[in-house]
Amino acid sequence: PKGRVPFIAGNWKMNLDHLQAIAFVQKLAWTLKDANHDFRDVEVAVFPPFTDLRSVQTLISADKLELKFGGQDVSQHESGAYTGEISGAFLAALEAEYVIIGHSERRQYHGESDEIVAAKVAAALKHGLVPVICVGETAEDLEKYGPSAVPVSQLKAALNGAAPDANIVVAYEPVWAIGSGQAATPEQAQQVAGALRALLGEVLSAEAAEATRILYGGSVKANNIAGFLRETDVDGALVGGASLDLKEFSSIAQFR
Ligand code: G3P
Repeated sequence: PKGRVPFIAGNWKMNLDHLQAIAFVQKLAWTLKDANHDFRDVEVAVFPPFTDLRSVQTLISADKLELKFGGQDVSQHESGAYTGEISGAFLAALEAEYVIIGHSERRQYHGESDEIVAAKVAAALKHGLVPVICVGETAEDLEKYGPSAVPVSQLKAALNGAAPDANIVVAYEPVWAIGSGQAATPEQAQQVAGALRALLGEVLSAEAAEATRILYGGSVKANNIAGFLRETDVDGALVGGASLDLKEFSSIAQFR
């Protein structure tokens, strides 16, 4: 009814090595196949650590799986003397479709500023990757500025320089809801998602605002996913902890 294909994305964070990744993706594919999952109805993607990506790509292409995958971060640089970094070109060469950018854990533990996030978004777009741009307020921000101000300003900064038809996904992840077991309510998620969509209309275009998927993230589980998807401006979820549990993650993907 919203005209946007729901998107369920699993952010594994620093979990599962490449052998565990192969086993997990294989089982996930079987489980969804058994459940007659239609990937045209609900898109499903996994975001494994960098060292797993080649294995996941090989499995997905060999078995012609409809699962998508992406990286958890990307360098803002093209190539060269940046020890430890991974370029957008490398991810594109691995046929990754997506890349998470600006996750609160990167902002918090790796000092990623709004400017760095914007440069990473530009790098992803340049290589034809779809950036999954994460925004969200801390509990302190929420108290100080209210629900939408911080996420809206983070998204505005992240899109600095992006083309009006930029192909992106937005993930609203309130920091206080991540890994806390304390998810936002669907109404709270909708309020911010609505404000983010309005911003997309202002800084990109009406078409992009209509087409862009906005995900909610933060303690999403099989038993709360449906409520979020019922909201007008919420088009899916970025799942952390529950994406590592095969049964839980497949039920989230099967949220109907
Ligand atoms: O990126 C997803 C994440 O930050 C949410 O984590 O464990 O609360 O689902 P979790």
